[in-house]
Formats: sequence, structure tokens, C-alpha cells
Amino acid sequence: MSEPRRALMCWKIAAWTVIGLLLAACGSAAPPTATPAPRDDSAIRAALANGPHGDTYHLNTGPNTYCAQCKSPANYDPQAVIDAPPNCVTCKFPGDTVMRVAAGNPLVPEHEWQGIRCKNCHPIEADGTVQTVVAWWSPLENTYSNMPDSTALCEQCHRDSAAGTLRQREIRQSAVHTDATCTTCHDAHSAAADCAACHNADDTATEFVARCWTPYLAPDAAAPHRSVRCEACHDNGGLAVDRVQAADDPFDGQWTTWRTTMIAGIIPNTKVWVSHNLAAAVDCARCHYDGNPWALTVEVLRP
Ligand code: HEC
Ligand code: HEC
Ligand code: HEC
Ligand code: HEC
Ligand code: HEC
Ligand code: HEC
Repeated sequence: MSEPRRALMCWKIAAWTVIGLLLAACGSAAPPTATPAPRDDSAIRAALANGPHGDTYHLNTGPNTYCAQCKSPANYDPQAVIDAPPNCVTCKFPGDTVMRVAAGNPLVPEHEWQGIRCKNCHPIEADGTVQTVVAWWSPLENTYSNMPDSTALCEQCHRDSAAGTLRQREIRQSAVHTDATCTTCHDAHSAAADCAACHNADDTATEFVARCWTPYLAPDAAAPHRSVRCEACHDNGGLAVDRVQAADDPFDGQWTTWRTTMIAGIIPNTKVWVSHNLAAAVDCARCHYDGNPWALTVEVLRP
């Protein structure tokens, strides 16, 4: 074979090889599939943003590196400490004209505050997709721990050390709902919960309402109790009951349960605490007792 012919042959083989490979590649390629549309998380994002976890930066509730442990885990500094009185924590308490500044737990500027985000409760893919699995992110090690259920997750923050104050413990002590986790009743993202979602107080046909309002009460006794929240009657934990009187409180005008804790072991602090320790039995004398401060009728109908 002459040199030119050999060169041409080589070229032809090379060309056919390329074409062949191309054809083989095209032939074996799977038919093109549509990329699945990314999951629409807009409702979840809105629920988180508008709920109590959506904006945790408030000058009056400790926007510092210590309180951040629960309000903005990414801004938490494990070295942060509470200082000696009078300043203790960097905060602008109601009545303070200027911010108290504590060296042990400096202020986090608002633009650096991370808040409570998807990544605190879910691992995030490289492309930003939020995995649906629930896990707790440790800011110190930047790792996730698996959570057996939502209760374990919520209680990473909703806990305190004093005996008897944990929601989970309340539920365990409860005569009802003992199998429930936090998200049995609370929406994971808006954090909203409502007894009436399962026990419909307006459905006058069911035994639930019949037993709530008759024969124990006068037939029309549901009406005066409309301002009495379920937990005020059904609390099983011996909490105090009283009416809320604060125009800016969503419970304004309603009766609920209250709890007193000690700040620094000495200053009593009484706040609304929706009881999670409940029972069917109700003691009317909890409110309708002799000499009650609200002048409620003492003699009320009981079986
Ligand atoms: C405070 C913790 C927490 C945060 C913050 C959080 N989630 Fe969740 N998320 C949960 C829990 C708990 C569940 C499981 C819900 C259940 O058990 O009913 C869940 C479930 C989900 C699910 C699957 C079930 C569903 O509701 O559709 C998706 C998707 C999801 N989260 C996305 C997000 C996104 C996106 C963000 C940020 C905007 C976010 N989550 C922030 C705790 C959280
Ligand atoms: C990263 C810590 C953290 C986790 C996890 C967390 N919370 Fe919270 N939660 C907070 C903080 C902090 C507040 C108070 C927000 C503020 O002060 O602005 C709050 C407020 C709330 C409130 C409103 C309280 C009130 O007094 O009105 C509810 C209800 C609630 N959380 C339920 C839940 C539930 C249910 C879960 C689990 C799905 C959960 N939280 C997980 C930190 C957390
Ligand atoms: C997610 C649904 C759900 C929500 C929300 C809910 N419950 Fe229940 N409740 C149940 C179920 C199911 C039972 C029966 C089984 C049990 O005790 O766990 C029950 C039982 C009860 C009982 C006892 C009934 C009996 O005959 O012994 C009382 C009282 C009660 N609930 C009050 C409340 C109150 C008060 C709230 C709001 C703080 C509430 N529930 C929220 C589902 C719910
Ligand atoms: C049986 C249903 C039920 C279960 C289970 C439940 N909650 Fe609640 N929780 C409620 C209801 C109802 C409210 C009142 C919400 C309202 O009216 O705004 C409430 C209120 C709260 C509040 C704010 C109330 C306050 O005192 O100001 C927090 C915080 C909270 N729940 C945390 C939790 C945590 C954490 C868990 C899991 C350990 C949990 N809850 C389990 C029904 C439930
Ligand atoms: C004024 C007090 C009062 C209020 C407020 C009240 N209840 Fe009751 N409820 C009772 C009484 C009394 C019973 C009967 C208890 C018994 O069996 O001894 C009862 C019974 C129940 C039962 C058991 C019914 C059954 O069929 O076994 C449930 C569940 C219940 N209440 C839920 C609620 C819920 C949810 C709310 C709020 C929407 C509420 N209650 C508000 C007094 C009250
Ligand atoms: C958490 C507090 C609380 C508990 C517990 C409670 N009540 Fe009441 N009760 C009230 C309030 C508040 C009113 C409304 C008073 C008013 O505005 O005149 C009321 C009004 C009444 C009235 C109307 C009385 C009148 O003078 O008009 C009757 C009857 C009544 N309750 C019966 C009962 C019975 C029976 C029980 C027990 C099953 C009970 N209540 C438990 C708070 C409570």
C-alpha cells in the first residue's frame, strides 16, 4: 500500500471508529427523562418564618452568645458564661433604658444572628435541598445526631433542669396522651397546636361535649366557660389557674394554667404555662371555692 493510501485508510478507520462510538453511545443512552421538579417548601418556610421560631432576635430576650444556645445555635459560644449581678446577661430587660452588657456573653449583632433554621433540625444536601429526616445539628462539632422522634428533637431546647418542668415529663405523668410526641399535636414548623383539632368543642352531638358540659353543669354552662381554656379545667399537675389580663397576650381574657419558677433560686417568676399533664377528671372547686378572689359562684352543679 502506498503511503497516501495507507494514510487515507487509517483516517477512514479512525473516522468510522468515531462514528461507531457515537452511534453506540447514542444507541445505549437511556431515553431522556424529565428532571423531577424540586420539592416545594414554600409553605413550610412560611410556617417557620411566621411561627415562634421564625424570628428569635429580640433585645429583651438575650441576643447574646450564651442564650444563643437555644435561640440561634450557630451563634452559641460554649465558653460563654453568665456574669455576676447586676448585669449577668447581655439583654435589655423591660424597664431598662440602656442595654446591660455582660463580658461573659457578648451581644451578637443582628446581621450575624442565624436564628432557628432548617439546618438545625434537618441535614442539608450539597444543592441546598433539605432532607426530610429529622436530626439535631451540633454547632460545636458541625455534625448531626439522629433523633428517635420529634420529642427528642424539641427537647434539645425545650428543657430545663428543675424537676417536674419538662414537657416530656409532664406528658409522661399525664393520665392521657401518654403515647403522644410533640408533633402529634404541634405542627413541626409553625409550632401551633390546638386541643380542638382532635376534640371538637363545637360538635355538640358527641359524648365529649356532653360529658364536658352536662350533667355536671347547668345545660347552658358551656357559655360562661368559653373563656376557660381546656387545660384550666383538665390540668392534672396541680398548677395555679388564673385569667390572663394583658392586651398584647394572645390568651388575653382567657383562663389558663400558670407556673412559678425561681430566677437564680431567689426571685419568683410566675408565667403562663399551658399544662401538658392532663386528666379527664375536673375539680370545680379549683375555681369555684369559698372566698375565691374572682367572686365566682361557689355552689355549682355537681353529680
Ligand atoms: C425545630 C426543628 C425544625 C426546623 C427548624 C425545621 N423542621 Fe422540618 N421537620 C421537623 C420535624 C420534627 C419534622 C417531622 C414532622 C412530624 O413528625 O410530623 C419535619 C418534617 C419536615 C418535612 C417532611 C414532612 C413535611 O412536613 O412535609 C420537610 C419537607 C421539612 N421538614 C422541611 C423543612 C424546611 C424546608 C425547613 C426550613 C424552612 C424545616 N423543615 C425546618 C422539624 C423542623
Ligand atoms: C433550636 C432550639 C429549639 C428547638 C429545636 C425547638 N424550639 Fe421551640 N422555641 C425555641 C425558642 C428559643 C422559643 C422562643 C422564641 C422567642 O423567644 O422568640 C421557642 C418557642 C416555642 C413555642 C412558643 C412558646 C410560647 O411561649 O409561645 C412553641 C409552642 C414551641 N417552641 C414548640 C416547639 C416544638 C413543638 C418543637 C419541636 C418540633 C420545638 N419547639 C423545637 C427554641 C427551640
Ligand atoms: C392529636 C389529637 C389530640 C389533641 C391535639 C389533643 N388530644 Fe386529647 N385525646 C386524644 C386521644 C386520641 C385521646 C384518647 C387516648 C389517650 O388518652 O391518649 C385523648 C384523650 C383526652 C382526654 C381523656 C378522655 C377520657 O375519656 O379519658 C382528655 C381530658 C383530653 N384528651 C384533653 C385534651 C386537651 C385538654 C387537649 C389540648 C391540650 C387535647 N386533649 C389535645 C387526642 C388528642
Ligand atoms: C396533646 C397535645 C400536645 C402535645 C402532645 C404537646 N403539646 Fe405543647 N401545647 C399543646 C397545646 C394545645 C398548646 C397551647 C397552644 C395555644 O393555644 O397556643 C401547647 C403549648 C405549648 C407551648 C407554649 C405554651 C406556653 O406555656 O406558653 C410549648 C413551649 C409547648 N407546647 C411545647 C411542647 C413540647 C416540647 C412537646 C413535646 C414534649 C409538646 N408541647 C407536646 C398541645 C400539646
Ligand atoms: C369548666 C371546665 C371544663 C372545661 C373548660 C373543659 N372541660 Fe372537658 N370536661 C369537663 C368535665 C367536668 C368533664 C367530665 C369529667 C368526668 O368524667 O368526670 C369533661 C370531660 C372531657 C373529656 C372526656 C369526655 C369523654 O367523652 O370521655 C374530654 C376529652 C374533654 N373534657 C376535653 C376538653 C377539651 C378539649 C376542652 C377545651 C375545648 C375542655 N374539655 C374544656 C370540664 C371541662
Ligand atoms: C378554671 C376555672 C374554673 C373551673 C375549674 C370551673 N369553672 Fe365554672 N366558671 C368559671 C368562670 C370564669 C365562670 C364565669 C363566671 C362569670 O363570668 O360570671 C364560671 C361559671 C360557671 C357557672 C355559671 C355560674 C354563674 O354564676 O353564672 C357554672 C354553673 C359553673 N361555672 C359550673 C362549674 C362546674 C360544675 C365546674 C366543674 C365541673 C366548673 N364550673 C369548673 C371558671 C371555672
